[in-house]
Amino acid sequence: MRSKAIELLAFRREIKDRLALTEDENAENTSLILAAHALKKTKTWILAHSDYELKHEEINTLQNYLTKYLQGVPLPYIIGSWAFFNRTFKVTPDVLIPRPETELLVERAIAFGQDKDPLTVVDAGTGSGIIAISLAASLNHASVYALDISSAALAVAKENASFHQQNRIKFVQSDLLSPFRSEFDLICANLPYIPSPKMEKLPVARWEPRLALDGGPTGLESIEKLLFQAKSKLASGACVLLEIESSLGKPALEIAHKIFPKAKQQLIQDLAGLDRVLQIMLP
Ligand SMILES: C[S@@+](CC[C@H](N)C(=O)[O-])C[C@H]1O[C@@H](n2cnc3c(N)ncnc32)[C@H](O)[C@@H]1O
Repeated sequence: MRSKAIELLAFRREIKDRLALTEDENAENTSLILAAHALKKTKTWILAHSDYELKHEEINTLQNYLTKYLQGVPLPYIIGSWAFFNRTFKVTPDVLIPRPETELLVERAIAFGQDKDPLTVVDAGTGSGIIAISLAASLNHASVYALDISSAALAVAKENASFHQQNRIKFVQSDLLSPFRSEFDLICANLPYIPSPKMEKLPVARWEPRLALDGGPTGLESIEKLLFQAKSKLASGACVLLEIESSLGKPALEIAHKIFPKAKQQLIQDLAGLDRVLQIMLP
């Protein structure tokens, strides 16, 4: 690609052409996001300034972004952030990229938590902190814990909490709920749920942390372990919300029935009609 000064529109056109060769269906939006980040402007600004003449260093940054993108690096890891539930979160290769499906779990958690006071909540496997931070921001009365086994992920989550001024979240490095003595009213978790045999074939497995994806031979190992631990750590009337892989609704429900025979269990579908969240309501 050229390195002499050129106009933004021409450069974006060139990026789009290169992306189109890779059959990127979002070439237009991808080129906008890359340009906005390289120039530290909004997408609207980029659209309105097509005749802006790019500086040398801006061309270099954009070329560097494009090379990474064409190598397959996910966009959020290139620009270092991603949107979730109306906020922008820092992301690094140490954390899972926030997925829109997880907003369903957050909506359910807010609906449960808003009328319950006092309320103690834990986000198990917090990653970048998106669930804990979204809940702390919406449920001012809640005591919020966020745990992860990965210290690198916790460092990212703490930065995000501080950026969004959610300084009352208590971060704990732990293997699920093992060190906790508290009684929780609400447990939320988006734990690794890809069955190990599927991992090798998944493109995401090349970039996102295995610890965030691999759910063991059945995909339900971490979820089952969490539910066993949760048995002695839930207040009466508590709620557990777990994101699941869409094909695992039935076995997830069976595990929940076995561990909490007196609770009400429900599978909640996402916008695509797929089983996405397992909800367990204790009596
Ligand atoms: C699927 S990612 C979800 C991250 C974040 N909650 C989200 O929704 O984007 C799962 C997270 O669980 C963490 N994790 C995996 N096994 C764990 C364990 N045994 N105890 C605590 N955290 C664990 C991983 O490090 C990872 O950050």
